Amino acid sequence: METLVSLCKRRGFIFQSSEIYGGINGFFDYGPLGAELKRNIRDCWWSDMVRRRDDIVGIETSIIMHPRVWEASGHVAGFTDPLVDCKASKQRFRADQLFFSPVVVDARTVGYVSALESERTAEELQEAAEAFKRKKSIQGKLAPVRVRDMTEALAEEIALIPSPATGEPGSLTAPRSFNMMFQTNVGALTDASSVSYLRPETAQGMFADFKAVVDTGRVKLPFGIAQIGKAFRNEITPRNFIFRSREFEQMEIEYFIHEDADWAKCHREWIDSCKDWLVSIGLPAGRLSEYNHPKEKLAFYSKGTTDIMFRYPFGVQELWGIAARGDYDLKQHEKLSGVPQVIFDEATKKKFVPHVIEPSVGVDRIFLALLCAAYAEEDVKDDKGGVERRTVLRLSPRVAPVKVAVLPLLKNKPELVARAQALYRKLKHGYAVFYDESGAIGRRYRRQDEIGTPWCATIDFDTIEKDGTFTLRERDSMAQVRIGEAELFALLAEKVY
Ligand code: GAP
Repeated sequence: METLVSLCKRRGFIFQSSEIYGGINGFFDYGPLGAELKRNIRDCWWSDMVRRRDDIVGIETSIIMHPRVWEASGHVAGFTDPLVDCKASKQRFRADQLFFSPVVVDARTVGYVSALESERTAEELQEAAEAFKRKKSIQGKLAPVRVRDMTEALAEEIALIPSPATGEPGSLTAPRSFNMMFQTNVGALTDASSVSYLRPETAQGMFADFKAVVDTGRVKLPFGIAQIGKAFRNEITPRNFIFRSREFEQMEIEYFIHEDADWAKCHREWIDSCKDWLVSIGLPAGRLSEYNHPKEKLAFYSKGTTDIMFRYPFGVQELWGIAARGDYDLKQHEKLSGVPQVIFDEATKKKFVPHVIEPSVGVDRIFLALLCAAYAEEDVKDDKGGVERRTVLRLSPRVAPVKVAVLPLLKNKPELVARAQALYRKLKHGYAVFYDESGAIGRRYRRQDEIGTPWCATIDFDTIEKDGTFTLRERDSMAQVRIGEAELFALLAEKVY
């Protein structure tokens, strides 16, 4: 992750937000290459999920909505994480990410140890327990740790558990519910009547506009409403770079089905098609897996939720959630707004509230997954026959921020430069391309490898003196072929869609 974070900064993919003021935790900026890559993810999704389908329409709803929306959705009452404060350090922890264990020697509890969630929480707690026993010079047999998180701590244990910030017990508070919605005030008055929220998900926009889309959109069941947009959550512990941030972007679909439809089949089809889509933008199928939420952890209205998981360097984590939510959301809005959220069934001549399947994914999590999967360092032959190390981002041409780099072989030959610039300008109409004339050709290839450019077109003397063809070098194989302009445009049309 450190290597990736530093590449992102060095090459202008991602910066810490407001860095000149010391940064702000949980917020990120996308630099020139990052903005391109992110836009490509959104464009691929919009093309594949909205434009290329007959059964999905796209909308864009406002970020601040009527506060009753968030009452209906349950966010005002229940969009909470359990929070633990450390009174000594003023740090805050998510209670379900702060683990502890009693230190038990010869069946007697002699103290407590704690650790924050990681890939090796249990090992860390065991090591801490051993260190505790040594430091206190306690003789006897240490029992294996019994790992629990702070939501499971008994009232009498809380004062005994050390804070991960200070290492000392006595400063942690009991867990309390913390609502993650960012609150704001709409209008000039700052009182309870003007309270509103930055949306914590885009989904409610689709539910709130369901009626408007049905009345105007000429849609017939089954159909989906899709949206891409920013979401905001005041995460207690934003972490793992852009994986969990406080401002992020979601791509969500509410796919409405008949109340009697086979929801399990539709749910399965969505899981498969989301996975296929991830593979189509370059994620290796072998790094994807599925996690079915256990029945006892589901909300009462939920029929089932499956997460598509990705193997990140910090563990296997949720990338895309696909939830079968029944008719809960529309019925809630019907209840609170008083406006029927129904559709007319021509066959039975009856009105009913449709059910919904909700595939919901974060653009930033896809971005990070793509970088993790694409990053490689490898030894290759250099120009002089020696070996050098190259960093390469094996991004799919669909999402790569730059599609082609155009390089004149020499920058001091005006005829090469003119021809290269002509090709560059032609390509620029349809694609993100880069022109680079500085440095040895090998160095220029390496610079493009590092940002994931799939092809480099090198204009040389044969281009001018012979048939106009140029060398096209492919990033992953580093193979070089001679092709002409028409062939390059055909290749781009086939691979960048
Ligand atoms: N409408 C359903 C919903 O919002 P969610 O599981 O809370 O469900 C959906 O979020 C997706 O949004 C997640 O699978 C993840 O990709 C992304 N996401 C959620 N919280 C995020 C955060 N703090 N930072 C980045 N992405 C996040």
